[in-house]
Amino acid sequence: MLQYRRAACKTHPFSSGPAPHLHRAVLIRCLHKNFYKWKCACFLVYEVKKMAKVSQEMVKKAGVNIDELIDLLVKNAGAELTTYYYYTILRFNLIDLEGEGVKEIAETARVEDRNHFEALVPRIYELGGKLPESMVDFHNLSACPPAKLPKNPKDVKAILKVLVEAERCAVRGYTHICNITAGKDHRTYDLALSILNEEIEHESWFSEFLGEGPSGHFLRRGETSPFVSKFLR
Ligand SMILES: [Fe+2]
Ligand SMILES: [Fe+2]
Repeated sequence: MLQYRRAACKTHPFSSGPAPHLHRAVLIRCLHKNFYKWKCACFLVYEVKKMAKVSQEMVKKAGVNIDELIDLLVKNAGAELTTYYYYTILRFNLIDLEGEGVKEIAETARVEDRNHFEALVPRIYELGGKLPESMVDFHNLSACPPAKLPKNPKDVKAILKVLVEAERCAVRGYTHICNITAGKDHRTYDLALSILNEEIEHESWFSEFLGEGPSGHFLRRGETSPFVSKFLR
């Protein structure tokens, strides 16, 4: 673990540098090996940029179109956050004898979609991308259509159809990301595959309630996101 403290830079005296504020020495303290070292802040910034650059270069060199990948990740992150919002409304409308049985899986899918958003964002920035500044823009570029409450909010089957379609859109999206990153961008592939595993289970839960056959999966017992949680620690 490193700790940083700013002070005057001895490596790059203020008089010789282009802008004094750019030259600050940083005292690095390694808690693991217990040593102190002075480094120029410029050097550290360069090192951090270089580290990120190498991980981006590896992805590019492997043949991935990094701009296209970032675009897909941002659109899918938009889908996750908007789904989280719309699922909140759907879940509140799952009432009565019929709706109550679906409420728990809708709640789990809602929370896990929020987890997917949280897990995607660091990878977007690692790859050199960023989230849109406007929440409205973010909503509108979503990879999936909004999971809106049906006209008759008491129609549980109609709500289930909205839920299953949202999950199917997510399954398609992450399958595509896995396909373009497999064997090339290992970190994004691992992330997309983990999310895909959860999306497939979400789809199967809602599909079972629509009478499309057994899901093969049970409700979560205890913690959510068994596949994605490793990206949230
Ligand atoms: Fe999701
Ligand atoms: Fe989902």
